[in-house]
Amino acid sequence: MCGIVGYIGTQAASEILLAGLEKLEYRGYDSAGLATISEGQITCVRAKGKLHNLREKLAEIDSPAPIGIGHTRWATHGKPEEYNAHPHLDNSGRIAVVQNGIVENYRDLRKELKAKGHKFVSDTDTEVIPHLIAEFFAEVKKEKEEEKEKKAEKIADLSFLEVVSQVVNRLEGAFAIAVICADFPDEIIVARQQAPLVIGFGAGEFFCASDTPALVSHTRTVLSLENGELARLTPMGVEVYSFTGERLKKSPRILGWSPVLVEKQGFKHFMHKEIYEQPAVVRACLEAYLDSEWQPGNPHSPINLNLPKELCADVEQISILACGTSWHASLIGKYLLEQLANIPTAVQYASEYRYAPAPLTANNLTIGVTQSGETADTLAALGMEQQRRAGFTDKFRARMLGITNRTESSIAHMMPHVINTHAGIEIGVAATKTFVTQLMAFYFLALDLAHQRQTISTERLAEIITGLRQLPAEIEKFLEIQEQYVEELSHQFTDTQDFIFLGRGINFPIALEGALKLKEISYIHAEGYPAGEMKHGPIALLDAKVPVVAIAMPGSVYEKVLSNAQEAKARDARLIGVTPKQGVAEAEIFDHVLPVPLVDELLSPIVTVIPLQLLAYHIAARRGLDVDQPRNLAKSVTVE
Ligand code: M6R
Repeated sequence: MCGIVGYIGTQAASEILLAGLEKLEYRGYDSAGLATISEGQITCVRAKGKLHNLREKLAEIDSPAPIGIGHTRWATHGKPEEYNAHPHLDNSGRIAVVQNGIVENYRDLRKELKAKGHKFVSDTDTEVIPHLIAEFFAEVKKEKEEEKEKKAEKIADLSFLEVVSQVVNRLEGAFAIAVICADFPDEIIVARQQAPLVIGFGAGEFFCASDTPALVSHTRTVLSLENGELARLTPMGVEVYSFTGERLKKSPRILGWSPVLVEKQGFKHFMHKEIYEQPAVVRACLEAYLDSEWQPGNPHSPINLNLPKELCADVEQISILACGTSWHASLIGKYLLEQLANIPTAVQYASEYRYAPAPLTANNLTIGVTQSGETADTLAALGMEQQRRAGFTDKFRARMLGITNRTESSIAHMMPHVINTHAGIEIGVAATKTFVTQLMAFYFLALDLAHQRQTISTERLAEIITGLRQLPAEIEKFLEIQEQYVEELSHQFTDTQDFIFLGRGINFPIALEGALKLKEISYIHAEGYPAGEMKHGPIALLDAKVPVVAIAMPGSVYEKVLSNAQEAKARDARLIGVTPKQGVAEAEIFDHVLPVPLVDELLSPIVTVIPLQLLAYHIAARRGLDVDQPRNLAKSVTVE
């Protein structure tokens, strides 16, 4: 987690760094800080809490310094207090470091440095880095003096880059760092080891950041560092090296999306705006992957995911690894892959899988799903899968696929094949439009496989394709007509303490997702449950104080869900139905109906999730909470 930024050029760094941190606040917002160099000194300013606290402190300092680094923190080691905020300095105050990630061997390093006289003032793992750099410089100086005394030949001075590269080789863990030193006022050194770091190229000015939104208002020419790479940024340019000191030739690329996407565009919160972007992003997926000319009866597949045929040709089993909302999307993916393409599919929490992996079977396809492409648990589980496949045939090693919204992210670099979910950047911590586009990716994958394996009839395929094409208009209609009602309804639940969400079949994961949305942004306890399982225990929780949201879409489990809802009603629960407005039955059972469009049951998750996103949003907004940056969370969870 955490966001880091850096700037070197001709303008005052502070304002540029603050603006960059604002765009990275989604990565963490417990505390923030900046360090700049002017007149041979480092000035470091830090503040607990949101960025505006830091901004207020900086308003008192008018610094023209044209070089600096900044950080916004999601606490891992040490409380979110000012003394733990980055940047961290060495004891001389001449070296400043910001880090995103965790230095796993920091305890050993700290002990070693303490024994050498270094004094620590924070509880963080990061603080060992400036001290280690200072220690290396001290060693170089000492060796030089000894050589002089012996009147031997003068040893070559180590450069700032060489010292930092010695230091990164001593760090274990996943990290990205940016370092400045008052003795090298024209250099920022950055390094990446399993945490994202991207460099931006301007005219006579260069930037670095954990993610591209921090750069796009300055430049769209960017270069992502790979694991095990360092770079030196000066006002003259950027040089990239490997951790082993080899100079690397790398070319920047041009980012394809516009800075407008990272603005709220009139909405009060990014989450609200992102809910409203869902028709457009579903359309973008249809345009990207569906043959617009395809008609029922055409022998070729209507879907083109740009994947090689041999990736899935004789796949007998699929394992999906993901976390959070991506895990919920994967559960729907499992339903689709099994029911449409007839392929047994297992979905695992990436954070659990690493410690209890399923036996690897021949003809297994592993899919990693992560919107950010940077979730450490997912990357670690996929990394383990890659290692388990080493030594097998090339074909088997290539049987791995990533589904991500960030094609420049770590998963995209790691996986031999990737499906881009085309949702555009998502800033709200609660995933909304990226979830819906992950579902689209699974619809396309499952339908394409079903077509290849002839497990779907032409008529059924045509029916689903027609339904998919209608989705954007259906979502638009729902948002236009129902939002006000959802908002009004939300007023009744601002003081509620517990919620239950029920679904069955393909809508069970939507119950989980509805509960997660409510928990993470409104801090109301919520449980998602398979409707049929309530009677096996959780029904004991119900009384008049616990509202129950039941997703009841016409299809295979409709009547069953209505019965389960009746069972809840008989225990005095207030019932909210997510169901098409059809007849008297629903009106009689439910106290409130969130009327969703009547679509094919198989496609219904795309429409049933939207009222649940809106309900969570309006309850949280009504409670006056920080919807886009809920407490204790971060958008991109880059620690395991
Ligand atoms: O970037 P990822 O999809 O890998 O993120 C996984 C989870 O951290 C994420 O879905 C999280 O649960 C969201 N806050 C849900 O809204």
